[in-house]
Amino acid sequence: MADFGYDISNFTAIDPIFGTMEDFDSLLQAAHDLGLKVVMDLVPNHSSDEHEWFQKSLAKEDPYTDYYMWSNASGFDEVGNPLPPNNWLSVFGGPAWKRMEGRQQFYLHQFLEKQPDLNFRNPAVQTEMQNVIKFWIDKGLDGMRIDAIKHLVEVENLTTDEPLSGDPNVQDPNEYGYLAHPYTTNQPETLNIMRQWRILLDQYPESKLMMAKVGYNGEEIDLVMKYYGTEEEPIADFPFNFNFIDNFHNRSDVTGFSLKFTVTEWLDNLPAGKWPNWVLGNHDQTRIATRMGKDLVEALNMMTLLLPGTPVTYYGEEIGMENTFVSFEDSKDPSGCIWGPDRYMEFSRDPQRTPMQWDNSTLAGFTDGPSSWLPVNENYVTLNVAQQEAADQSCIKNYKQLTALRKAEVFFSGELAFPVITNEIFSYVRYLADNPTYLVLINASEEQVTANLHHDANFVLPPTALLVMRTSSDTRPVTVPGTVIDLSAVPMLAGEGMVMQVLNF
Ligand code: GLC
Repeated sequence: MADFGYDISNFTAIDPIFGTMEDFDSLLQAAHDLGLKVVMDLVPNHSSDEHEWFQKSLAKEDPYTDYYMWSNASGFDEVGNPLPPNNWLSVFGGPAWKRMEGRQQFYLHQFLEKQPDLNFRNPAVQTEMQNVIKFWIDKGLDGMRIDAIKHLVEVENLTTDEPLSGDPNVQDPNEYGYLAHPYTTNQPETLNIMRQWRILLDQYPESKLMMAKVGYNGEEIDLVMKYYGTEEEPIADFPFNFNFIDNFHNRSDVTGFSLKFTVTEWLDNLPAGKWPNWVLGNHDQTRIATRMGKDLVEALNMMTLLLPGTPVTYYGEEIGMENTFVSFEDSKDPSGCIWGPDRYMEFSRDPQRTPMQWDNSTLAGFTDGPSSWLPVNENYVTLNVAQQEAADQSCIKNYKQLTALRKAEVFFSGELAFPVITNEIFSYVRYLADNPTYLVLINASEEQVTANLHHDANFVLPPTALLVMRTSSDTRPVTVPGTVIDLSAVPMLAGEGMVMQVLNF
């Protein structure tokens, strides 16, 4: 629990604090009985330092001696202390090397000290990880989300320093962003190893999902796309598309142009025959309401759920949860705590990891225990599932309507076009012969606007459309779902999203 499940001491067991293997088996069965698929997070890059492999590796017990990234000191300082092999930094801050007296060597940890990197140049390690995958898939698991995959393999020559990033926003030499990472990320060998995982998954009769978490921070798009593999040699079903995370840091970053840019950036770079995906947020990133704007959450859900491809929703975004203030004393995330009380808030991921807000009872109905791991957001009294289920219009009701709507063939295989894009307006249509055409319309601005879908349009729309859905804070009689809307004058609230069925088309 040093990194909450990302520091694994046994890859084929359930941590007793979460239950037993029988609990896991019955969860999987219950989900399957409901027609749900279950995927798990696979964390191949590192184990816990408490893993038996690491303990034996430290003791140089074969075959574990080279299971991790051990290296000698590069030299000694004036007082005779050994110096790390190179300048590499941990993602969470500080040097990525830790010296162990036991072996008189340093080991690499691209994340916490308690997360030593496995050595994937060692074929025995590759086999171990294949066995881990097989273990879970044999149990009936439907696939996996692969963690931190770009870090899997490092350059062979461990004396190679990484260059400075030159990022003017990063002044502290201990911050990961101080360096560029050409030697510790996205090495070509990683793709070959993942290709073996795909081959393994393809041996099962049912299709198994492989989603890869490559990286944030404006990773070069062509590097990310490589994780799809090719049509002949597929790898992941998709690497996560984090461009909605990378491109949007503030409410003011959201414009019609920036939304269109971000959608087409992925689609235009997608390799032939591959399937897109859209991620608005996750456990590592500030919540959508906090990062992109409370008013926009529903519009963005409409956008991602009706685009071609798979939308990825982080829990709580169906109701528009916000970041929670977590004091330094209550903080748990090591990536925040490492920086101390003055800077923890810049890095802590706790604010987006607080309990799901089910209802207005104590601890938001998340637990009937005396306390929760992280504090519940104070807004749970009014912002919760039960309240939204009871309301006439709500974020979750729209979300459910979207999940039902997206089952229509036009959203699965229909074409995509963008009728009008301005600073304020983002719009797209989905169309397919012999199927109804749909229009998704977003007012990205912080003002009310009247959208004209006929002015300067790249896609000819008829005069009117039938309103199917609007942002739930909109209660105006002129935009009640079912109303026929004049497409040359659509009255939209700030941040509003609408879905319409285009008539006579
Ligand atoms: C990935 C995960 C993150 C975790 C890290 C180390 O970045 O998304 O939550 O801390 O890997 O495993």
